[in-house]
Amino acid sequence: MTGHEAAAHGEEVTSLVLVPAVARAVEIPVVAAGGFADGAGLLAALSLGASGVAMGTRFAATRESGLHAAMKDVIVGKTAEETIYTKNFDGMWARLMRTPASLQATRRPMSFIETAVRATLAARKMGMPLRPVLQRLFTNLDQVRLLSYFGAAIPKVEAATLRGDVERGVQFIGQAQGLVEDVPSAAELVTRVVREAEARLSGLNQAQTEGRTS
Ligand SMILES: Cc1cc2nc3c(=O)[nH]c(=O)nc-3n(C[C@H](O)[C@H](O)[C@H](O)COP(=O)(O)O)c2cc1C
Repeated sequence: MTGHEAAAHGEEVTSLVLVPAVARAVEIPVVAAGGFADGAGLLAALSLGASGVAMGTRFAATRESGLHAAMKDVIVGKTAEETIYTKNFDGMWARLMRTPASLQATRRPMSFIETAVRATLAARKMGMPLRPVLQRLFTNLDQVRLLSYFGAAIPKVEAATLRGDVERGVQFIGQAQGLVEDVPSAAELVTRVVREAEARLSGLNQAQTEGRTS
């Protein structure tokens, strides 16, 4: 399950409420995603009833990640507040890095004319026959709009993720970018996260023991 804090297509509910709600409702292991980026987050997820976490934003800024190196550095400089949550990028609710380019790309929903033009371009690029796409403009506008958004979004995502272009590109990213302070290797990150979680847990246990004896 994916909380509201997450990069790209998270749910409406934040992880703090979603994780325990899902953990109570199912009898299979729950992997918590959305806002987890360090040992404190891992420990929190475990105490909320998850069996583990999936970290997207945090691993995007590791040495092995396929993201352009310049974009990894941009993530390190961003705060937790610098994201936007919008339906006007790829047609689904999604969280993006807040930049002048992403604000410009999502400032209003696509008009009918723009939908028609973009759907035609996207269909052509994907080798789809044009006639059914154009017919659906009048019978299933939502479906065509998704195609249009998708066609418009892909080059912007490629510019950001593959070329590190913050001026024209748009980057999917989560609020956890505010917790990212470096670009370690994936192995270093996993070791650090587990160590932090263990240290916090023993700190909590110690505080409880001292509370009992004082
Ligand atoms: C760069 C990036 C691109 C992503 N792209 C997608 C996507 O296209 N579709 C999707 O459903 N989730 C996407 N995700 C979301 C992840 O699969 C994951 O659910 C999410 O990152 C977890 O939350 P977190 O970012 O707070 O760790 C993306 C995540 C990142 C960091």
